[in-house]
Amino acid sequence: MNHKLSSRNKKAIAALFFFFVLFSLALFVFLLSTNKIRLAYNNDYQPDQPIPFSHAIHVGQYQMDCRYCHTAVEEGRHAGVPSLDICMNCHLTVKPDSPYIQKLVEAYGNNQPIVWEKVHLLPDFVKFNHSLHIKALSGRFSQTSHLPPSGDQVRKTCTTCHGKVENMKIMYQHESLSMGWCVQCHRKEESKAPIDCSTCHY
Ligand code: HEC
Ligand code: HEC
Ligand code: HEC
Ligand code: HEC
Ligand code: HEC
Repeated sequence: MNHKLSSRNKKAIAALFFFFVLFSLALFVFLLSTNKIRLAYNNDYQPDQPIPFSHAIHVGQYQMDCRYCHTAVEEGRHAGVPSLDICMNCHLTVKPDSPYIQKLVEAYGNNQPIVWEKVHLLPDFVKFNHSLHIKALSGRFSQTSHLPPSGDQVRKTCTTCHGKVENMKIMYQHESLSMGWCVQCHRKEESKAPIDCSTCHY
């Protein structure tokens, strides 16, 4: 058999290769721009939500306590995202003529949840627990650490990792959530937090 390619074949292969690279690049850019791929860490990741829920209104303007909606944050691993019952405590009467509130009322009437897009997500092989962190960190924002944390203390504690939530019109990821970010805080003397691998990995 003749292993040498004719120069015509070579040109065809080069052209094919060229188009393949070009096509891949275009696809890559398209997927990036539509958030189908996200590179490495997701700082500033801000997915579109089914309803533009604003922390700036509820927390910034109306000073609501994070725990009113994220009810599990002091007890559990997950903070949890509120069910519609909580929204309806107010929105059966607050701003019922807004098209967004009408969407809430309709979903509530049909017993359907609003499917919020997840913003933060650690890989499965990482252990993370909210309650431990709230307990350990909220003491930094008060002299009277024997009392349960106040709304203001809790908000400041959340801000350590989630940024200024009270200004967010649409929620986004403020920190990288990289291993380096976790470990750098655990290493601080005042943290008294363990840094061996099994602390955070199964
Ligand atoms: C009136 C209810 C309400 C209050 C009060 C509230 N949140 Fe939320 N929060 C939501 C809802 C609804 C979502 C899901 C939609 C979204 O991501 O915007 C959410 C999402 C989040 C997320 C992102 C969840 C994810 O998918 O990763 C974080 C972080 C968060 N809230 C932090 C806070 C903090 C910190 C406070 C207090 C400063 C707070 N929230 C107060 C209702 C509330
Ligand atoms: C030490 C850093 C840290 C603090 C403090 C913190 N969070 Fe989080 N939060 C995270 C991380 C990391 C995730 C992603 C967790 C995952 O994917 O398992 C997260 C996820 C969330 C989510 C998405 C749902 C969930 O539980 O996974 C909500 C809502 C949230 N945080 C709210 C809050 C609120 C409210 C406070 C304050 C009371 C708070 N967080 C304090 C780091 C923190
Ligand atoms: C403690 C009362 C209270 C709760 C609970 C509450 N909200 Fe609100 N919400 C308000 C107030 C007050 C406004 C501002 C109304 C205005 O602009 O006149 C508002 C505004 C809004 C708006 C903007 C409406 C518009 O068209 O301007 C949306 C969307 C919204 N809330 C969604 C939610 C969702 C989703 C939940 C549940 C996770 C929720 N709210 C829970 C009090 C509340
Ligand atoms: C702002 C500082 C800070 C950041 C950021 C932080 N932690 Fe922590 N973490 C602490 C402190 C303080 C403790 C100690 C809690 C205690 O008193 O036991 C702790 C404890 C823990 C524990 C429990 C350790 C035990 O006692 O078994 C785990 C697991 C953990 N962190 C995982 C993480 C992961 C994963 C991340 C990143 C996604 C992270 N932490 C980010 C401050 C932080
Ligand atoms: C305080 C929490 C924490 C500790 C301690 C920790 N890790 Fe991690 N690790 C994480 C988080 C969060 C991630 C996921 C984010 C990332 O990849 O940076 C991760 C990711 C990883 C990955 C995957 C990297 C990748 O890019 O996919 C490896 C491997 C790893 N850790 C090994 C270790 C080893 C080995 C140790 C002990 C020397 C250790 N980790 C200690 C939090 C921690």
